[in-house]
Amino acid sequence: MATLAPLPADAALLGEAPPSPAGPLAPEDRRAVALPPAIPLPRALQTLRFSVRQIEFVFRWRRELGETFRFRGMLDDEVITITSHPDHVKSLFTAKPDDAPSLTGESPLRPIVGPNSVLTAIGPRHMRQRKLLLPPFHGEAVARYAQMIAEAADREIDTWPLHEPIDLASRMQAITLDVIMAGIFGVEGLPAKGTPERSLRDTIRWAVGLSVRPEAQLFELININREEAAGPLKRLLAHLDKQIYAVIDHRREAGDAAERADILSLLLQATDEEGTPLTDRELRDELLTLVLAGHETTANSLAWAFERLVRTPAAYDRLRDVARSGDAAFADDDGWIEATIHETMRSRPVIPIIGRRVQKPWQFGEFVLPAGSSVLMSILLLHHREDVYPDPFAFRPERFLGVKPGTYTWIPFGGGIRRCLGATLAMAEQRVVLRAIARRTDLVAVDPAPEKARHRNVTMIPAHGARVAVTARRAG
Ligand code: HEM
Repeated sequence: MATLAPLPADAALLGEAPPSPAGPLAPEDRRAVALPPAIPLPRALQTLRFSVRQIEFVFRWRRELGETFRFRGMLDDEVITITSHPDHVKSLFTAKPDDAPSLTGESPLRPIVGPNSVLTAIGPRHMRQRKLLLPPFHGEAVARYAQMIAEAADREIDTWPLHEPIDLASRMQAITLDVIMAGIFGVEGLPAKGTPERSLRDTIRWAVGLSVRPEAQLFELININREEAAGPLKRLLAHLDKQIYAVIDHRREAGDAAERADILSLLLQATDEEGTPLTDRELRDELLTLVLAGHETTANSLAWAFERLVRTPAAYDRLRDVARSGDAAFADDDGWIEATIHETMRSRPVIPIIGRRVQKPWQFGEFVLPAGSSVLMSILLLHHREDVYPDPFAFRPERFLGVKPGTYTWIPFGGGIRRCLGATLAMAEQRVVLRAIARRTDLVAVDPAPEKARHRNVTMIPAHGARVAVTARRAG
């Protein structure tokens, strides 16, 4: 087995942040508002920088203003705070749902997936949708997908050219899109040509391809703070909707939902308390949410894993050793695969920031925010705290060897009642695909310099899609 890059003798792998009291103030607590320091930039410039260069933006202002800071929103009295302290995160994740609802309903996703999906709804509607959708994403349900994921990975790896640059993010998307489509529509493998599911899959691939082009950022800016999409995004969505509605019509006509186990069939049978089924528009919002949330994130997380690994030889060698030892298809004897995924998601969280709106005056360490404030938890900054993760910019899977990541210090899937619904599926996909690639291929970086992170919509992705070349491939 390859040796690991040695740590300095006295280096700790994981540490702890000093405590910082946080939570809603008790009704009798009349403490005055004490706002964190504000970023000294004009409002429009802040918004632009945050939207286009969020990564540099948060690291810079954390360095200059401390772990809790504020930027001024577009409205005069709007308070938007960014924090990266585990105690602050805990106070928001464990809050009563009405005290700190999610901000996803106001995020750039809203014009795309609408206001009604499990991702964008809040309150009782959110809880209802979440309860409905949880069972197909539970461990047991997901375990049934392992073989299908392995087959999708093998099919994809077989197509990779040797000694030519390939962009792993889009290669991973081919796998994760097939997996999520199988779960949602119950189609095993690639949907057959000429079916509405196949047209939908092809349209999604095309739309995702467009969204990585540079002009897409402009479309995002056009849609900031909008409820309905505008401009080119509107036209693109109209095209996508046509395909989704065709799939829904096709299924309604078939009338076989009760005999099927896929998620669309489950949604077609669901009713609210009055017995009313979901409308086509509600179904569309839910399906698009699951397809979009469910494949690009996982694909980019896998791309990041190899972006890091091909530049960290000791960790990569050990992964290949583990993946190639024994013949149990899904073995991870010493937990190295799991640790590699945990470290990838720590150092390159695909969703770098999540938000809640506090509905009561709330303490965050030395500060007190008024009711109605938005609070953004920077996953990226939290995951790069020197006190929690010594040497935070190094890629060291050994931090997580035999260690369960902390609920409030490792939060790539968010937390509380809004924790990612697909986390178990995403972990299973990463385990199986990481292992298959490490077992079957040898990859090298096309450019030895680390790939920069690029911010796109709500995700943080490798700027060049994690470009690698395959130098050797073994049979599946
Ligand atoms: C590596 C892959 C993934 C990452 C990093 C990720 C990350 C996240 C994050 C950060 C949130 C917000 C949590 C919060 O606000 O506390 C979220 C929510 C969500 N994710 Fe994922 N996700 C991934 C894969 C998936 C998959 C495979 C699905 C499958 C359908 C999925 C479906 C959802 C849904 C439906 C929500 C909304 C949950 C709610 O608001 O109740 N995600 N995800």
